[in-house]
Amino acid sequence: MSGTSAKGKVLIIDDEPGVRDLLSQTLSEVGGYETVVATDGLDGIEKIRASEFDVIFTDLAMPRLNGMDFLKKCKDTDVKTPVVVLTGVSSMEIAVNAMRQGAYDFITKPFRLDKIVSTTEKIIGERKLFGRLVSSQGSEASLRTLNAELFKKLQEIVALHSISTDVDGCHENKEIFARAAGMAAKLLTVNEVSFGIIQDGLLEIKSAIGVVGKAFPLVGTLFARVVDKRRYHVADVGETSPYNGDAMPSQFLAIPLVVGDEVFGILSVSGKADGTAFSEEEVYLAVDFVKKVSSRIENNALYEVFFNNLVDSLKSLIATIEARDSYTKQHSERVTMYALQTAEAMRLGSDEIDTIRFGGYLHDIGKIGVRDTVLLKPGHLSDEEILEIRLHAVIGDEIVKPMKFFEKEREIIRHHHEHFNGSGYPDSASGQEISLIARILAVADSYDAMTSNRPYRQARTHEFAIGELKRCAGTQFDPEVVRVFLETPIGREIRT
Ligand SMILES: [Fe+2]
Repeated sequence: MSGTSAKGKVLIIDDEPGVRDLLSQTLSEVGGYETVVATDGLDGIEKIRASEFDVIFTDLAMPRLNGMDFLKKCKDTDVKTPVVVLTGVSSMEIAVNAMRQGAYDFITKPFRLDKIVSTTEKIIGERKLFGRLVSSQGSEASLRTLNAELFKKLQEIVALHSISTDVDGCHENKEIFARAAGMAAKLLTVNEVSFGIIQDGLLEIKSAIGVVGKAFPLVGTLFARVVDKRRYHVADVGETSPYNGDAMPSQFLAIPLVVGDEVFGILSVSGKADGTAFSEEEVYLAVDFVKKVSSRIENNALYEVFFNNLVDSLKSLIATIEARDSYTKQHSERVTMYALQTAEAMRLGSDEIDTIRFGGYLHDIGKIGVRDTVLLKPGHLSDEEILEIRLHAVIGDEIVKPMKFFEKEREIIRHHHEHFNGSGYPDSASGQEISLIARILAVADSYDAMTSNRPYRQARTHEFAIGELKRCAGTQFDPEVVRVFLETPIGREIRT
């Protein structure tokens, strides 16, 4: 404990003695505050019980009681002292979480010591102002100042949080590219934002606000510098604009997007609305945003590669099943085509069309679990063998279930043998209980089964199959689906 002053009393909680002492010394010697130190959250709680503080600084990673739990405890026990979180991890997630737990502000390590003193001064100043307002009427002007400060802070937190959600909600890189400039503009009050990707020595602009132009050369501009150094750069008023070579009327901040080891793109912001220079906080916010965007792009790219590999493997699995049973060659492909034509004629949404496109290929994937002797048997099937064949709908569902991507496709796989009147399998579902995409697939599947050669019989004619679909509309099939199917080129037997 050092220094006693009427200026205010500060508690510093950090498990690293070096950090603790440096902060304590700076605050007492430079700032003139009285300081108390604590070694972790629990120690901090004890110190709060023993005396009152004006500001508390706390580390996050600490033994016994960490910073986040300390904040929670303060909130639960109604401690009113503002707590500033010192975080070593440059993560907006953690900072926003800390704010949600009631932290007043956060400072990232390594921090500048003058920042600690100025933050303390600011908080104590605000508290004094607030105290005066509460005790006397206070002037209207100071109330306005306080309100404006609080409002700004609130806006900042709301923006941070919504941007986090926005970035995480972009499952395709295309979408991130298109929205990056808008998201950055939401974060900082600037008139110009551009987000571009580096290609053949050019920065190709994917989204922009207030910036005209589709591509800008890198060579000889500050963009080249950002790419070389792989670090953000703030260019001052009067420096050459990378957009048009003119002297810039305001500061320009360019941040590289690093994906893997490569600089993949650049986010640039300029033309601050209030004409001031970028503050440390603004640079930090923008850099953190770009980091978030880069990691999302990286994740999406990995996911796309993984997903495409998975789709390829499943398709070859289907080809293997169809190769076992020469009668059903290209069955899945044709069924998918018929179902797509029907779905398009019924004006289904693009999500459902996509589900049919892939689910159609997969619908019989469960046949991998049916023995050749049963699957390829030419003659009459025993009851047991019929049950075994019927299991393919459930087996298929089980195969795909662990791959979380195919939730909707599972509808098709499991239910393509259900009947509209509830007499099908495996769940005896009926009517609307069977999803529309599965009802469509049932019609397409039956038509193709009837018009293909089977182990136990020759292919039937188109006319016979149409007759059967009509006869079973309303019992086995959804009558509306049959009606539409008969209007499609294949239903009218117009071979294209
Ligand atoms: Fe099937």
